[in-house]
Amino acid sequence: MSSQAETALTVAKRAALQAGSLLLDFLKTDFQVSKKGPTNLVTEIDLRAEAMIIELIERHFPDHSVLSEERDEKVGTAAYRWIIDPIDGTTNYAHGYPCFCVSIAQEIEGLVQLGVVYDPIANELFWAERNQGAHLNDGPIRVSEVGEPIESLVATGFPYDPEERDRNLELFARVTRNVRGVRRDGSAALDLCYVACGRFDGFWEISLNPWDVAAGQLIIEEAGGRVTRFDQSPCGIEGSEVLASNGKMHGALSELLS
Ligand code: IPD
Ligand code: CA
Ligand code: CA
Repeated sequence: MSSQAETALTVAKRAALQAGSLLLDFLKTDFQVSKKGPTNLVTEIDLRAEAMIIELIERHFPDHSVLSEERDEKVGTAAYRWIIDPIDGTTNYAHGYPCFCVSIAQEIEGLVQLGVVYDPIANELFWAERNQGAHLNDGPIRVSEVGEPIESLVATGFPYDPEERDRNLELFARVTRNVRGVRRDGSAALDLCYVACGRFDGFWEISLNPWDVAAGQLIIEEAGGRVTRFDQSPCGIEGSEVLASNGKMHGALSELLS
């Protein structure tokens, strides 16, 4: 591991922990909420957490690019790009529903090298570096061993776009009939980490964005799982179709979703 990667990981963890603490401080307070679309919210705390994370990253790495949900992309001169979701689960946060996280990833030349996802309610820090395994707080994590859909617990989420949401309602019905249970908790980054640590055996969603998936995808892969498009082709981090699983469930879920 290079000293560059060590430093980036330390900064990413500190940024996630500090932003997570801000989220807890302001949870259920009287913050401003605006609408980006009929059901798509952004709160004053998204913007404050985002500013805090970017300020810390820019202090250490002024020439890196930064892609963050609530700002225009900053294109730096170096081959490094940070990908940030200051609150993944904003709807939950705005309603005081305790399921949200901070997600931060770093790419080098277009390949994600580290990912950090912090749930401040549970005080759970999921993190991974490429080829170094995945961790929850101080311990290693692995995906589950479940291979039979009927013995699996899986998760999904619904996009804000009504047409895309309706498409997923059909998939939701089909998967629900074939598995033990489907959960819909409202934070894609946490859903991915729950697959990584074996709480979920699979996850699917459509119309996600790089800031939703970049960190969680690496964490799953480093925990022994797979992340692809529904037809099992490579998906990158653009998020338009995401099927994540422990690997053993991948073929069965792919069939249900295709
Ligand atoms: C959303 C959450 C949700 C998913 C949506 C995402 P946001 O992110 O991850 O679980 O279903 O598609 O947009 O808006 O809370 O950052
Ligand atoms: Ca998000
Ligand atoms: Ca967000």
